[in-house]
Amino acid sequence: MGGSKAGRVLLEARNLTRVFGSGRAAVTAVDGVSFHLREAEVVSLVGESGSGKSTVARMLLGLLPPTAGTIRFEGREVSRLLRTDRKAYWRQVQAVFQDPFASFNPFARVERLLANSLHLLPGRLPPGHARARMAEVLRAVGLEPEAVLSRLPHQLSGGQRQRVMIARALMLKPRLLIADEPTSMIDASSRVSLLNVLLDLREELGMTILFITHDLGLAAYTSNRLLVMQKGRLVEEGPVEEVLGRPKNEYTQKLLADVPRLHPV
Ligand SMILES: Nc1ncnc2c1ncn2[C@@H]1O[C@H](COP(=O)(O)OP(=O)(O)OP(=O)(O)O)[C@@H](O)[C@H]1O
Ligand SMILES: [Mg+2]
Repeated sequence: MGGSKAGRVLLEARNLTRVFGSGRAAVTAVDGVSFHLREAEVVSLVGESGSGKSTVARMLLGLLPPTAGTIRFEGREVSRLLRTDRKAYWRQVQAVFQDPFASFNPFARVERLLANSLHLLPGRLPPGHARARMAEVLRAVGLEPEAVLSRLPHQLSGGQRQRVMIARALMLKPRLLIADEPTSMIDASSRVSLLNVLLDLREELGMTILFITHDLGLAAYTSNRLLVMQKGRLVEEGPVEEVLGRPKNEYTQKLLADVPRLHPV
């Protein structure tokens, strides 16, 4: 998937740091991390469990304030954007989280769940438009709208829930999609087809994707660039071919050795 025309810098994180707790119990989950994401680029953030990937994601989304450092979106400081108009920021920056169950309201049917993202719009969409958009995003992620719209979360399989989450994130055609292990509950073959859906949408919408995963094979398959985290620090960054071809870091070499196959089919 590499070699696509990435554009201007969309988001830039500088010296991003997050400490949880204080004193002896303090944990530096993210430690002075700097990177940028360009328009229409797919970047994977990889690293072992606990290395700080989801903490980075939550800070980018404005769900967790950084202890230090700055995040800029199109040159503007995100903390300020969130203070002035957080809905405007979330219209442009959407997320799919790791654990689809935790982020579901158990009593909301799929229809309501998708409709909820429309509350971020400044006005109301005509009802027909909202329905049409829901059907469109559900089909895009491989779900039949009639079959799922009136279901509750527990009436869906894990994979279907993840697809619904992705559909929800796409409702507003965001400019940046932060996808934290978005396909962990989907079997390997449909995982690749769902990732291809995201990559096609990236082309179509010029959407930027930050893809967070443990799976270096999937990261290599989907991305232009890799960011590798270890124990809260960014230990490696570069185009996929470069990082995988000549891993500078011992940790990346080890990750690479654990990948059975780099190109899933
Ligand atoms: N709310 C919190 N309070 C205290 N510690 C936290 C909190 N959230 C994360 N941590 C700690 O921060 C570190 C990084 O966690 P994070 O969830 O960002 O890792 P991750 O790379 O996403 O891991 P995984 O691959 O397992 O999802 C871990 O040591 C974790 O225990
Ligand atoms: Mg995580």
